[in-house]
Amino acid sequence: MEQVKEGQLFGFVHDDKKLLIANLKGKIHATDLICTHADADLSTGFLSEEGVRCPLHLSVFNLVNGKPQNLPAEDPLNVYNVKIDADEIFVEV
Ligand code: FES
Repeated sequence: MEQVKEGQLFGFVHDDKKLLIANLKGKIHATDLICTHADADLSTGFLSEEGVRCPLHLSVFNLVNGKPQNLPAEDPLNVYNVKIDADEIFVEV
């Protein structure tokens, strides 16, 4: 949890999966790290109440259902269940 403070994004690779952790108002979300539109790393994007905004062409993805809120991205991100245990974040992939 310490690596992902409120309002922050954190990207990491696990096996062949690239994942994004987002802390939106103290709630932890996990999604794919790479934008569905092109090869952009969403951990370098911007977090707001609507979700995570891609740094490249500015589509915003909802963190709960992964859906893009605006073009150019049309496909949703995969979203993953998250469990917090003893201040550690566990992502179900
Ligand atoms: S790469 Fe993310 S919107 Fe284009």
